[in-house]
Amino acid sequence: MPLTIEELSTFCKRKGFVYPSGEIYGGLAGFFDFGHAGVELKNNIKKEWWKSFVQQRDDVVGIDGSIITNPAVWKASGHVDGFTDALIDCKKCGNRIRADLLIEDALKVSTAGMQLQEISSIIKKNAIKCPKCKSSLEEPKRFNLMFTTNVGPIQQDSATAYLRPETAQLIFTNFKLVQDNARLKLPFGIAQIGKAYRNEISPRDFLFRMREFEQMEIEYFIHPEKSNECPHLHEVSNFELNVYTEEMQKSKKDSKRMKVKDILSKKIIKTEWHAYWLAMMSKWFIELGANPEKFRIRQHVKTELSHYAADTWDIEYNFPFGWKELQGIANRSDYDLKQHSQHSKNDLSVFDEESKKKVIPHVICEPSQGVERAFLVFMFDAYTYDKERENVVLKLHPKIAPIKAAVFPLVNKEEIAKIAKSITAELKKEFNSFYDQSGSVGRRYSRQDEIGTPYCITVDFESLNDKKVTIRNRDDTKQARIEISKIKETVRKLIDGEIKFSEL
Ligand code: GAP
Repeated sequence: MPLTIEELSTFCKRKGFVYPSGEIYGGLAGFFDFGHAGVELKNNIKKEWWKSFVQQRDDVVGIDGSIITNPAVWKASGHVDGFTDALIDCKKCGNRIRADLLIEDALKVSTAGMQLQEISSIIKKNAIKCPKCKSSLEEPKRFNLMFTTNVGPIQQDSATAYLRPETAQLIFTNFKLVQDNARLKLPFGIAQIGKAYRNEISPRDFLFRMREFEQMEIEYFIHPEKSNECPHLHEVSNFELNVYTEEMQKSKKDSKRMKVKDILSKKIIKTEWHAYWLAMMSKWFIELGANPEKFRIRQHVKTELSHYAADTWDIEYNFPFGWKELQGIANRSDYDLKQHSQHSKNDLSVFDEESKKKVIPHVICEPSQGVERAFLVFMFDAYTYDKERENVVLKLHPKIAPIKAAVFPLVNKEEIAKIAKSITAELKKEFNSFYDQSGSVGRRYSRQDEIGTPYCITVDFESLNDKKVTIRNRDDTKQARIEISKIKETVRKLIDGEIKFSEL
């Protein structure tokens, strides 16, 4: 039986990954806190993403924008007028429900891109009632998802500001400064990881739909006429994506696995850059241990496209509650830079050396990933119940595992404990490591298996003579004997995939 989202949430609480926020006061829907194991996993996900897409590339730099900024930003971006979901109230009990989710739950159909009128007529036609009290519902209306706050001590309209609903806009407003100061030439990307806030009507499915979450986003800028000149395409041209086009959705066909080069030659994805980033982002998940069978890329149908998007593909993941958006990758064209140029009266164009003309760059795609949705994917794909061990083994990729190595003295003898403690101290200089002397070694192994620690190191009586320890591999429980002086180097090579455990 596959793990449900409720079971995962219970597991996450029990093992110190995630807690309902302010639980001693009953919690608050859509808000979660990360515990001692969860914060490590979340930080590792962000670290790996930043390393792959910023530090290891020559064409992407990062920023860290503020959560509250000039409210004019959100007017220009279109969020003040258009960042809404359809809301519906129950006539009797006042229950407020997100209208599209209500229909999806009641009729098991997709509501992608449905307009208010269509939502209203479907609800009437199918006599959909309040899921709580079964009474009739009001007409659906638009609800803006931005949280407001007041800046300064006086609560008046002029001081109203917003908590950012996406990190992207801070990239656009800083575009010129970053481009000038980092001396960037097209094509280039600007990346950011940070909190975003949305007053979701129906937060649900644990970390899937939250009101406070984190995003990892890149705005990738190109010359408007060079959307098919991606110099890195060869890196992914044979990579396979499971493609679900607008046409397949309309004609109720199944998605199809295709190589990037074939997707492009058949013009399924219109630009090289868009295909490249879809592949790079999918590859990142797979290389960190996610199950490729649970991934697909789905094209937004016309009516579903956001106000800024020329074409959007989502990377979707097959969650226990269905195929859902994991990451959105939209082609935002020049929408944002143009909007901010007009509203701020600042010239946000760049000088193109080749044509000797000024151009407004196009965001050929914007890979936008929620950190917590990535967290869910890695947890779902790592969670394994091991019948022989009679416990959960969390097979997280060593790079993102909260603890990389746990060190145990076999027995509580001073000279053995002393060696184990000094090994832990040495490992801690480089990796998050853990010393544990309580309970049987079997119990200590299972505690580490459950939080995904890839390597356990045991110091025994023999270690006093041969200066070696036993290292145990989480996934198959195989063991090897290695020299104490080589532990740190060995663990580092195992984590980085430079050696396999079987080679020890
Ligand atoms: N800048 C574009 C943008 O924000 P989006 O599709 O609204 O696009 C991007 O959001 C990603 O952020 C989603 O694919 C998802 O991973 C994450 N996300 C969005 N809303 C979320 C929520 N309420 N809770 C958790 N993650 C969310």
